Amino acid sequence: MSQKQVNFLDEVRRRRNFAIISHPDAGKTTLTEKLLLYGGAIRLAGSVKSRRAQKHAVSDWMEIEKQRGISVTSSVLQFGYDGYCVNILDTPGHQDFSEDTYRTLMAADSAVMVIDCAKGVEAQTKKLFQVCKMRGIPIFTFVNKLDRAGKDPFELMEEIENVLGIRSYPMNWPIGTDGNFKGIYNRDKSQVELFHGGNHGQNVVKSTVGDASDEKFKGLLGTEMYEQLQEEIELLDTAGDEFDLEKIAKGELTPMFFGSAMTNFGVQPFLESFLKLTKPPTPRVSNAGEVDPESKNFTGFVFKIQANMNPAHRDRLAFIRICSGEFVKSMEVNHVRHNKKVKLSQPQQFLAQERAVVERAYPGDIIGIHDPGIFKIGDTLCEDDSKIQYEGIPVFSPEHFAKIYAKDSMKRKHFIKGITQLAEEGAIQVYKELNIGTEEIIVGVVGALQFEVLEYRLKNEYNVNILMQQLPFKHVRWIEMDGFDSDRFKGTTDTLIVNDEDDKPVILFQNEWSIQRVLDRNEGAVLKEISARSF
Ligand code: G4P
Repeated sequence: MSQKQVNFLDEVRRRRNFAIISHPDAGKTTLTEKLLLYGGAIRLAGSVKSRRAQKHAVSDWMEIEKQRGISVTSSVLQFGYDGYCVNILDTPGHQDFSEDTYRTLMAADSAVMVIDCAKGVEAQTKKLFQVCKMRGIPIFTFVNKLDRAGKDPFELMEEIENVLGIRSYPMNWPIGTDGNFKGIYNRDKSQVELFHGGNHGQNVVKSTVGDASDEKFKGLLGTEMYEQLQEEIELLDTAGDEFDLEKIAKGELTPMFFGSAMTNFGVQPFLESFLKLTKPPTPRVSNAGEVDPESKNFTGFVFKIQANMNPAHRDRLAFIRICSGEFVKSMEVNHVRHNKKVKLSQPQQFLAQERAVVERAYPGDIIGIHDPGIFKIGDTLCEDDSKIQYEGIPVFSPEHFAKIYAKDSMKRKHFIKGITQLAEEGAIQVYKELNIGTEEIIVGVVGALQFEVLEYRLKNEYNVNILMQQLPFKHVRWIEMDGFDSDRFKGTTDTLIVNDEDDKPVILFQNEWSIQRVLDRNEGAVLKEISARSF
């Protein structure tokens, strides 16, 4: 094997790529920041006090995010730790932008689910967990805010199983709960680790580590806490699940960690164990079978498009997940959908707000490529002529709908351009009423705040003011039916049949009850919640 090949394999094998998911406020941003702190990518974590102001500065680009203090788009953060090259796919904090998170999960090899120990499994965690499950990726659980009062750890394990339907395996166990969090017990090493100080988690914390049977811990913890720990460990060992790496890899068992992202307690043990348990990029499914990440030819797919991230440049970036081979700056690849060669110039990688031009990148990495308007979400790129196509990225069902028009009909061209680009980015889904011109457009979004972003961006980026009329629909279903004919199809008075962007028929519903009625009235019709269509 040549040295070049050895280097390539080393690069692939040291890659770890994951996304962090959580219900808002569980501590995703804080944990991300602390992982960067431990990775040496930032020197001081934002202090607790100044966090509110800076909170989203790390991954926010758009003005609207700053105005509202929410994170709208996802970004990618890369750092090195102990020989690993870690890519964190950051996801929007606000649930109204969860669609972006769904798509980002398509580019992730594993997920870290952050749970607030006092709140347990919350609504948004449940939704995002389902997407991870659909993909069958490993899911790691970080139970956060152990420095505060919270639910009993055994109760949390039960809740995860009952609500999410996944068994858990605690990799470590908290010592001292309810505001008295002292440290963790590492089950793998049978070691106790007690944390000291903290400085509000601005710096890396120090700790005392030793064998759990060491009597000194009895002194340090007090007899009561020490004995409680021994009992809990015994209970876990006898009544808990077996550690099973294969089940973890398939997303059937979630390794569970306890800690406090704010004080840094438990962050480093989590990171180290997580990096050991996760795998380098695994083969990806394409229409020509699985593609080995270690194969020579570069392949990747577009999972996200973001326009106008930098108003000064008015650029548009396509985010590419590299699946195999080596990426080299300015290389020429096949754009499979267009059946055309394209040159991948100005490739960029991201660290916090900084973008750097990347010379080489490897499977598991995400790069941003300048997009002159040729990419769509789901596009595959490959170096050779194999013309494979990676699995499509599913279109998730919007829950809010509105009719929109340009206020000034003279601006129609800009309006259409803006709508088209935002739809290509996946920020909105566009529907057309049957037999009606294109003066008005129906837009569907997953979260209501996306309408605000739409209005704001059309005004600021395309100079178009719009009028918006909210529609009462709540659900969309894609119709699959042999010989579908809209004139003969029997809807109900409160439904509307429209076409999606690919002219596929969909029905908009006001309530779940009508969905069943339409199914009853139309024999052979199948109504799908996630589109068979993909980007
Ligand atoms: P998110 O990205 O999941 O939405 O959560 P984020 O990290 O922004 O954290 C939400 C709130 O929870 C923040 O408080 C943060 O400081 C706090 N937090 C995060 N991790 C921990 C932890 O381990 N323990 C405790 N006690 N709190 C934690 P905030 O009041 O909203 O903001 P700020 O004033 O702290 O900036």
